[in-house]
Amino acid sequence: MTRLAIIGTGYVGLTTGVCFAHLGHEVVCADTDADKVARLSRGEVPIVEHRLDELLVEGLHKGNLRFVVGGAAAVTDAEIVFLCVPTPQGEDGSADLSYVEAACAEIAKSLAYEAIVVNKSTVPVGSTRVVERVLRRPDVRVVSNPEFLREGSAVDDFLRPDRVVVGCEDRAAGIAVAALYDEIRPPVLITDPASAETIKYAANAFLATKLSFVNAIAAICEGVGADVDDVMVGIGYDKRIGSEYLRPGPGWGGSCFGKDSRALLNIATEAGYEFDLLAGVIAVNDEQFDRVTDKIRVAAGGSLGGKTVAVWGLTFKARTDDLRDSPAIAIINRLIAAGATVRAFDPTVNAAKPGLPGDLTISPDAIGAIVGADVLAVLTEWDDFRWIAPADVAAAMPGRSVVDGRNLLDRTAWQHAGFTLVGIGR
Ligand code: UGA
Repeated sequence: MTRLAIIGTGYVGLTTGVCFAHLGHEVVCADTDADKVARLSRGEVPIVEHRLDELLVEGLHKGNLRFVVGGAAAVTDAEIVFLCVPTPQGEDGSADLSYVEAACAEIAKSLAYEAIVVNKSTVPVGSTRVVERVLRRPDVRVVSNPEFLREGSAVDDFLRPDRVVVGCEDRAAGIAVAALYDEIRPPVLITDPASAETIKYAANAFLATKLSFVNAIAAICEGVGADVDDVMVGIGYDKRIGSEYLRPGPGWGGSCFGKDSRALLNIATEAGYEFDLLAGVIAVNDEQFDRVTDKIRVAAGGSLGGKTVAVWGLTFKARTDDLRDSPAIAIINRLIAAGATVRAFDPTVNAAKPGLPGDLTISPDAIGAIVGADVLAVLTEWDDFRWIAPADVAAAMPGRSVVDGRNLLDRTAWQHAGFTLVGIGR
């Protein structure tokens, strides 16, 4: 059992805190938001994240998980402190380290003698040094331990990781951090700090590359009469390629891929390399938003002016309530700009949610969204949509065109109900 402090209770910090408590460590989580701290202390999880509520309540009951306001209060007894604060995109595309620096400045004087501070936030290569500089505590060792948690399955990803990466100059400090994961016996890779930080960016950029590649092949499939879903099964059997992250879609999104890809472009330029491949990956993704918008325009009869489009799905993927950098919103903005009226439904989103286009109407249910619609577009792969009977949609919707941006719906069933269904890459 190790005494840990976690600074920041976003999905990464909160998942890290509750999972380490689940593994038996003594955990204090800090946030600057007093209201959030009060809610977490009552066992209320502020985000949609599978199993997080169950593990939060478990930690509170066992008594080895606490929440406090402010980092200084959390770190006084901690042997290891995890920085899990946001690193948003700065104006020039690089990562903004101001939250990391502010957190370090706040905790510096309160850290226990010879504590270890761990960067879990995604930070530019070289940030271990930035943390050391701000802390100004020669007795404290700084280690990098990047996270590879997907929103929606963050708890499972934490407890069953493909690997744990630890970047350190002081090997003993790195081993102490790696030992926190002993109970789950993951493959552990200990590197220097710059390599650990680069692994994080390279992993996200590689996954984004894979997805843009899939969407580009999907465009070719449309031209040559192939079916991208079969093509991806066919290439995914090749172990060198792997079968994951091969689902075509309306473009990739979320708070990480775009931000981290752009940050890596900056890191590359500063390192003296123009990463044209990655710039192309981002450009292909932006084109994908345009391509899906165009499919909806064609489905609406060639023009979006005065047309009503129903959208199912707003979040950047299913099983989360996160709207940040959601492809659905990028596409809705394009539809509205082209003169369409858009009505949307998402299982986790209601009218009050910030981050939504002002002109968008939110429906409380899927059928409500399609009333009066010329076209239906499916933009997030919520399972719920799969089970809606096409006949119920036909009864409520005047239009007969569906654009399935996630290749989610059963083509045959929808065609039987009289719909023309256009997917991605088929
Ligand atoms: C991503 C990474 O997968 C995590 O490993 C990483 O830790 C995290 O970013 C982060 O840096 O914090 P996440 O943003 O939760 O996780 O999202 P993903 O599940 O990777 O999906 C990203 C986007 O790709 C979504 O828009 C999703 O719909 C899309 N996607 C994913 C596809 O279009 N097809 C696929 O086959 C898989």
